[in-house]
Amino acid sequence: MKLTIPYTPKTADYFPRLPAHVAIIMDGNGRWAKRHRLAIAKGHRAGTENLREIIRHTSNLGIGSLSLYAFSTENWSRPPEEVAALMQLILDFFASEIDELDAKNVRILILGDKEQLPEAQRETLLHAEERTARNTGLRLNIAINYGGRAELVKAAREIATLAASGHLSPGQISESTIAEHLYTAGQPDVDLLIRTSGELRLSNFLLYQCAYAEFLFPKKLWPDFSVQDYDEALMTFATRNRRYGGR
Ligand code: FPP
Repeated sequence: MKLTIPYTPKTADYFPRLPAHVAIIMDGNGRWAKRHRLAIAKGHRAGTENLREIIRHTSNLGIGSLSLYAFSTENWSRPPEEVAALMQLILDFFASEIDELDAKNVRILILGDKEQLPEAQRETLLHAEERTARNTGLRLNIAINYGGRAELVKAAREIATLAASGHLSPGQISESTIAEHLYTAGQPDVDLLIRTSGELRLSNFLLYQCAYAEFLFPKKLWPDFSVQDYDEALMTFATRNRRYGGR
């Protein structure tokens, strides 16, 4: 009989430094399902199960912000059964997690256009944001119906409106003006971006916020990405030499 010793997650003092903002592209659910001869929906469900531990660990480590790419504006083009499964997972995720997240002082923010979502999802997401709005712990950003370019267009429109009404002159527009009009306004830039499954793309995620992010592309498929893998990624981040264009 093979005995496996359960992994004990690291505590914050183990790391020489921790990122203030981690972003994760949870890729590989489809391949995981195929590998296990399961329906795609089961792969996404396994990915959601996995998420619970990763969020809990991020919060325990005292990391300020965690951004997760759950559904992109391009994902609408997937087969209708898969879109329906992802929409259902959104409802199930919040139904099962909201009490614990709120109790852990997590503040939820949805990145993306909620207006185009079905009513049940829109209501659930709004409720999660409102219920946790005064929490002061981990900022949990969940990107749903999100696209990075669309976010920049939204920011440009808001800034142009301010300029057209005389509240802002073009010369006053700075990098921070743009940052203030992104969904992530008030939060630090992404320090560490993790994309699982070995794909080497950003796929329109947090384009502006990732300008100086460190990128990690672990080969594991998202449902197999464990807290131990996450700790290893955080340790790799801690040893990277970030120069921000300097020496
Ligand atoms: C990419 O895998 C993953 C997605 C498109 C969805 C990720 C969503 C979840 C894990 C559910 C999270 C839900 C909430 C509410 C937080 P893929 O299907 O593109 O994988 P493949 O490239 O192997 O096909």
